[in-house]
Amino acid sequence: MLGVPAVTIAVAAASVALPTTMFIAMPQTITVGSFFTGMAGCHFSCQDIPGRDFATAFWVEKESVARKFLNANLNVQGFHDVCDPSFLADAPHTDFVIGGFPCQTFSQNGRKAGIDDPRGVLVVFLLIYVRRSLPRMVLLENVKNLMMAHKETLIDILTILKGIKDPETLQPAYFVSFRVLNSMTHGGIPHHRERVYIVAIRKLRRAIRFVWPGPIPCCSPASLLDRDRVKLSSYDVLLNNMPKGKTAQNNVRRAIEQVRSVAQSEGKHEMHYLPIVDLHSSALNMSLEYLPCLTEARGRARAFWSLAHGGPLSTRELLRFQAFPTDLAINVSAQQIGGMLGNAFTCSVVRRIVEQMVRAAEGRT
Ligand SMILES: C[S@@+](CC[C@H](N)C(=O)[O-])C[C@H]1O[C@@H](n2cnc3c(N)ncnc32)[C@H](O)[C@@H]1O
Repeated sequence: MLGVPAVTIAVAAASVALPTTMFIAMPQTITVGSFFTGMAGCHFSCQDIPGRDFATAFWVEKESVARKFLNANLNVQGFHDVCDPSFLADAPHTDFVIGGFPCQTFSQNGRKAGIDDPRGVLVVFLLIYVRRSLPRMVLLENVKNLMMAHKETLIDILTILKGIKDPETLQPAYFVSFRVLNSMTHGGIPHHRERVYIVAIRKLRRAIRFVWPGPIPCCSPASLLDRDRVKLSSYDVLLNNMPKGKTAQNNVRRAIEQVRSVAQSEGKHEMHYLPIVDLHSSALNMSLEYLPCLTEARGRARAFWSLAHGGPLSTRELLRFQAFPTDLAINVSAQQIGGMLGNAFTCSVVRRIVEQMVRAAEGRT
């Protein structure tokens, strides 16, 4: 064929195919660089992924409350501040870098200063680490507003990731993609939480076929409530047990009126609906189908009031709405864990993305 000896073709094919095959396999135990760990959504998302173990090589978290929680639940001893120059100098290589970088400066509820606030540039340290360590996979998460009011920062992050070169080929080292996913449609959890996810996967001389997870059905909010707290009598009982504050009381009253009118029009008992009301919102922020977005402020203020039990959502309930395990040791205050949960990953969404990343990194589609 074309005058080329078969043996030459075989040798050439082997020399191309061999390194590729060697590179494709992901290790059985994937080492993880956990940036901006918070309450370890990264760990709890990956712990049940079938066929793989994930071992965190280092934890980057500076808040003492989060460190205390991580110490009690995962026995983590050493933590790093991402700004500490010795951290970046000494951080070991890892296969997988994951981080929900601080979002207060990008969120709609925050000061919206973006990268003019020092917290807005912390992601740069993670990107420097990626450029040096060249992990097989990178997953970043942030608020949806990063795509709207702070699009230039999103573009910068994508440009930096796309600009990282493979040291052997000098070609772009990473396949890069981003998408907004909602925990309600993509995590199986009735929580209206839209987040931008950025995925980068080492190409290693191959075309990467990464497929974002598709929508899945979602359970009902009532199914995530503590059953022993649900009082299925009538909302009249709840009207005698109101939260403090005028706005909060008005919101509960308005919510009950709305639920009653829906129940009447649908010919159902009012307790068929067990909605959760955002107490501090100026407009009624409630849905019969899902929890409004749990932000740090709402979590800290315990601002979600369940009409099913006439009280704020419990810590276990908030954990369920973020798909965290509920058997965690809660060694911080209710306000502190609420705030941390408001900043955390929805574990079921991240788990589904990581599963797809591993498949793509290994060349499985
Ligand atoms: C958006 S939260 C991430 C939450 C996390 N994804 C989870 O599932 O819980 C950002 C975290 O970055 C941490 N952080 C902020 N500045 C930091 C710094 N200089 N070094 C390390 N961590 C920092 C914050 O304390 C916070 O826990």
